[in-house]
Amino acid sequence: MKPSCNEKADAAHIGLQANGSHTGRERSIVVVYKTKYGSTRRYANWIAEATGADLYEHGQVSSEDLMAYDTIVYGGSLYVVGMLGLSLIRDHMSGWKNKHVIVFSVGASPAHESAITEVKKNNFTVEMMKQVDYFHLRGAFDYGRLNWTDKLLMFLLKKKLQFKKEAKRTRDEKGMLACYDRPAD
Ligand SMILES: Cc1cc2nc3c(=O)[nH]c(=O)nc-3n(C[C@H](O)[C@H](O)[C@H](O)COP(=O)(O)O)c2cc1C
Repeated sequence: MKPSCNEKADAAHIGLQANGSHTGRERSIVVVYKTKYGSTRRYANWIAEATGADLYEHGQVSSEDLMAYDTIVYGGSLYVVGMLGLSLIRDHMSGWKNKHVIVFSVGASPAHESAITEVKKNNFTVEMMKQVDYFHLRGAFDYGRLNWTDKLLMFLLKKKLQFKKEAKRTRDEKGMLACYDRPAD
């Protein structure tokens, strides 16, 4: 899969946020991610490259390990509006008073305000709403590569969308339907 300039620019933007305007002692940054098919890993790699951060897949680090860093960047892909692995941040960040926490989700939806609000509502605590810098990034979607449970879920979604009158489908729903025949990377 060839990265588009926009995807790299989005990752670079998160990298800039992670580096911040800090002068003096270099900030220590960690990037942790959870992925199913690789999109989130791709973004996490770019952010870690751009910032010189340590990079771990979810499960390779504990919340205690994260205590050693000034900035924690967490990326998780979206499945039915749930962000993979986010409990690593959600369950522990009340003890991270002086850390900069950045969360990014990766999903098929474009980064519209309504999609962003929906993701936050479903995944963030009140504390996270106030303290986390959050970004949504567009990921890849290839129906042919999905495992059978994901295929079944997406097949049901397709039927639901097809059932809706074309004129009533939103722009995102039309975009989603187009992805079934034409994989998005
Ligand atoms: C069963 C299923 C549910 C999904 N639900 C969402 C969703 O709620 N919002 C979204 O933006 N994308 C959704 N997607 C798309 C994935 O988030 C997208 O393909 C993403 O790039 C996957 O990232 P990963 O390869 O890092 O796991 C869904 C995909 C599948 C297969």
